[in-house]
Amino acid sequence: MTYSLKDKAVLLVGGGSDIAAALAADLLEEGARVTLAGRDLEKTAIAAKAVGDTVEATALDLADEGSIQAAAGRFADGIDHLVSVAAARANGPIGSLERGALLAAFDAKVVGPILLAEHFAPLIAESGSLLFFSGLAAWRPAPGGVVMATTNGSVSTLAAALAVELAPTRVNVIAPGVITTSAWDTTVPDKQQLFRRVAASVPARRVGEPSDVSAAALAVLANPFITGETLHVDGGGRWA
Ligand SMILES: NC(=O)c1ccc[n+]([C@@H]2O[C@H](COP(=O)([O-])OP(=O)(O)OC[C@H]3O[C@@H](n4cnc5c(N)ncnc54)[C@H](OP(=O)(O)O)[C@@H]3O)[C@@H](O)[C@H]2O)c1
Repeated sequence: MTYSLKDKAVLLVGGGSDIAAALAADLLEEGARVTLAGRDLEKTAIAAKAVGDTVEATALDLADEGSIQAAAGRFADGIDHLVSVAAARANGPIGSLERGALLAAFDAKVVGPILLAEHFAPLIAESGSLLFFSGLAAWRPAPGGVVMATTNGSVSTLAAALAVELAPTRVNVIAPGVITTSAWDTTVPDKQQLFRRVAASVPARRVGEPSDVSAAALAVLANPFITGETLHVDGGGRWA
C-alpha cells in the first residue's frame, strides 16, 4: 500500500529550525500544503519563502497559550497534521540552572505540546496526526543535560498518553540523535570536533542530516497504523 501526503495540510511549529526547513521542503515535494509557525512572524515568513512560494507563515509561541489559541482560530477549517520541532535549551550543571530557562525548555517540549493538543486536536482530520520531537539526550543522558533529558523523555510519554486519549487521531514522536543543524553553532565550543567524535562511535558511523530526520517524519505522518510511537533517528546512538 502506498501512503500519500498529497494535498494534506501540515502545520509545522518551530518553523525557523533547520529540521523544519528540511521537512517543509520534503512535504512540498510530496504535494502537501505547508504552513510554518514561529514566535517571530517576520522571521518565520522569511523561512517559509526560503522553502517555497506556496509555504505560508503564521505566528505561534508555545510559551503563550493565547497565541496557540489564536493560531488554532486561524485553522478553523481544519488541518491534517500538526508537527512541533520546537526546542529551547537549558543546559548546564544542576547547580547553575535558572528557573526562567527551565520553564522555557518545558514550554517548548512539554507544556506547549500539551496546549497544542488541547487547542488543535479538534481541528485534526480523522486520518491526521500530531508529531512531536524528542531527542537522544533522554536515552543517553549526559552531565549538564538534565533538562534536555527530562523534557525529551516527557514528550515521548506525552505522545503515548495522547495517542490513547485522542484516538483515532495518531500521536507520535521523532527522537533524533546528533544532527548537523545550526543549533550546534551556539551550544558547543567546536561542533566539527563533536561531529567527528559522534561519527566514530555510533553504529551508522556518521552524524545525521536534517534529511534523515525528515524522511522518518514523512513515514510516520503518512502511515495510518503508527501511533503512540517514538521513532529513533540516531544512527544507533542509543547503543553506542
Ligand atoms: N540538532 C540535533 O542534533 C538534535 C538532536 C536531538 C534532538 N533534536 C531535536 O530536533 C528538533 C529540531 O532540532 P533543530 O536543531 O533543527 O532545532 P533548533 O535549531 O534548536 O530550533 C528550535 C526551534 O524551536 C523554536 N522555539 C523555541 N521556543 C519556542 C516557542 N516557545 N514557541 C515556538 N517556537 C519555539 C525556535 O524558534 P526561534 O527561531 O524563535 O528561536 C527554533 O526555531 C528539536 O526539538 C531538537 O530538540 C535535535
